[in-house]
Amino acid sequence: MIEIRNLTKIYKLNRKQMRESRTKNPLKTAVDDLTLTARKGEIYGLLGPNGAGKTTTLRCIATIIKPTGGEIYVNGKEVRSQPEAVRTEIGFLTSEIKLDEQFDVDYMFRFFGRLHHVPADVLKQRREELFEYFGIRDFAHKQIKELSTGMKQKAAIAVSLVHDPDIVIFDEPTNGLDIITARSVTDYLRKLRDEGKLVLVSTHIMSEAEKLCDRIGIIIDGRKVAEGTVEQLYAQTGTGDLEDAFFELYRMNRREE
Ligand SMILES: Nc1ncnc2c1ncn2[C@@H]1O[C@H](COP(=O)(O)OP(=O)(O)OP(=O)(O)O)[C@@H](O)[C@H]1O
Ligand SMILES: [Mg+2]
Repeated sequence: MIEIRNLTKIYKLNRKQMRESRTKNPLKTAVDDLTLTARKGEIYGLLGPNGAGKTTTLRCIATIIKPTGGEIYVNGKEVRSQPEAVRTEIGFLTSEIKLDEQFDVDYMFRFFGRLHHVPADVLKQRREELFEYFGIRDFAHKQIKELSTGMKQKAAIAVSLVHDPDIVIFDEPTNGLDIITARSVTDYLRKLRDEGKLVLVSTHIMSEAEKLCDRIGIIIDGRKVAEGTVEQLYAQTGTGDLEDAFFELYRMNRREE
């Protein structure tokens, strides 16, 4: 289970960042008093426009950055006081963690397996399963720098799952993938959900959220403005389509700059 209570993240902007965002305010509130609970056996989707605070929220859960305020518990472990324990519970996929370019996929997989203390025989079995599923065997011995975007994403997904984590946190998992590859990724996420794992994904793709997620939290300007199943979101907004529901919520909640 992931429990987020009143999460706030405020970034301090440097001069360059202030200039780029055309602001005189050195503080940027990326996540604003966000509370949510996601449970095992569900795919929970964070849906929001660019800059809404999705990646920031996921990075706080994954212990990559520290919250400014609030609390996050991952299977009962608190991110600030028990980051190591949190990291063993989760598999985190993000476009920002770059795989080291000169190593090959197989090496990276084994390296991260050892980092997570996966026993050698289990690691071999995980490799068989994940490489087979994502079609990685064909490029297992290519250097990361030689891989296409899709191959890189598949390799990153396999690496993030090496320790068979209980909770899978994927930031825009189908980013840059063709529809066939994207489908194999979303099917795998469903399989993990059906095995009783908790899957937390972020996306700005309405159709993906609509099809994939059991529950959706809509994030606008760092705040959760609505939450529920697709049907509940339709009912809350008087719409019959996730895109219409989103625009309705956006119209009501967009903060004026
Ligand atoms: N390291 C940082 N320093 C300063 N500001 C940041 C930093 N990271 C993110 N931000 C700002 O925080 C806000 C939220 O960013 P975040 O990356 O969490 O959004 P997102 O919902 O993931 O967007 P996208 O759909 O584009 O990935 C944005 O205004 C962004 O500019
Ligand atoms: Mg993001």
